[in-house]
Order: sequence, then structure tokens, then C-alpha cells
Amino acid sequence: MNLDRAGPEDAERLAEAHAAAFEAPWPAGDLRALLESEGVFALTAATAEGPLAGFILCRALAGEAEILTLAVAPGHRRQGLGVGLVETAARLSAQTANALFLEVAADNPGAVALYRKAGFSPVGRRPGYYARPGGGTADAIVMRRDLNT
Ligand SMILES: CC(C)(COP(=O)(O)OP(=O)(O)OC[C@H]1O[C@@H](n2cnc3c(N)ncnc32)[C@H](O)[C@@H]1OP(=O)(O)O)[C@@H](O)C(=O)NCCC(=O)NCCS
Repeated sequence: MNLDRAGPEDAERLAEAHAAAFEAPWPAGDLRALLESEGVFALTAATAEGPLAGFILCRALAGEAEILTLAVAPGHRRQGLGVGLVETAARLSAQTANALFLEVAADNPGAVALYRKAGFSPVGRRPGYYARPGGGTADAIVMRRDLNT
């Protein structure tokens, strides 16, 4: 699937795709503000019509890069799109950064498996980082991938 660069004008579509993938959706206004900020870029996978198949949002700044969020629409999962978005984002980030970081919820084994497959290793843990509906929390696992190898 072809990937396109997205800008602040695409915030509504990204918010729609984010809401389809996460329990706690990010408002379009927050996504627009991120897309207007320094070093932030997004890649989208579009379908012929209708909602996005998926997107990745990253920040590459001061020699380090970070995946801010990654979402693949339920009907497009397990077809390699998630890894494809991560690999393309890693290639773009490598132009200015030496390492790519992310935080992933410890109770999201599918995403952890994807990031391991994409070459990330755990480097830290933030206890109780994510609030869960009903009052619980989940730890964040901090993962890192070297971009110079
Ligand atoms: C996690 C997510 C991005 C994966 O997207 P995807 O396009 O289905 O991922 P891929 O097809 O590229 O999967 C690559 C590999 O990751 C692993 N993987 C992906 N989803 C998995 C799942 N649900 N369970 C177990 N392993 C999984 C597998 O090893 C898979 O390879 P395989 O299909 O050959 O077994 C998608 O399920 C999603 O958007 N989830 C909701 C939002 C989210 O959790 N985002 C990531 C946290 S920031």
C-alpha cells in the first residue's frame, strides 16, 4: 500500500483513524497542533475511498526520534501495514536521528510483538503510565531501535 505524508489539514482524518484504533481517542485539535510543531511528521495509508487504513505519527528532533502513535484500522490488520508504517518512519527518521524511541502499553501484546519484530528492544518501564477505563492502569514499556545499523 502506498504511504503519503500528512499535514495539519489531515488532522480530522487522523483523529477518525485514531478513534477507530484506541479506547481513548485523540481530538483532531491536538493532532493538528502536533502536526504544526517542529519535527513532527505523519505517514498515512489511504484506501480508495473512506477512512484511512492506518497512520503513524512521529517526532524527529535534536538527533532523536519518537513514534507518538501508530494505528491500523481493524479491517486492515495482520497484513504488514503496521510494520510497513514503522519501517518507512524509521527510514525517514534516520535522515536526522540516531535512534527511534516509543512507549507502548504493557497490556498491548500485539503492539509489543510488532515493535520487537521491527527491531525495537525494551530499555525502560514507566509504572502506571496509562489510565484504563474503570480505574486501573497499565505500565508503559519504553523501546528503542538504533537507526545507524
Ligand atoms: C498494533 C497494530 C498497529 C498492528 O498493526 P498491523 O498492521 O496489524 O501489524 P502487522 O500486520 O504489520 O503485524 C506485524 C507483526 O506484529 C505482530 N502482531 C501484530 N498484531 C498482533 C496481534 N494482535 N497479536 C499478536 N501479534 C501481533 C505479529 O508478529 C505480526 O506479524 P504476523 O502477522 O506475520 O504474525 C494494530 O493492531 C493497531 O492499530 N492496534 C490498535 C492501536 C495500537 O495498539 N497501536 C500501537 C500502540 S502505539
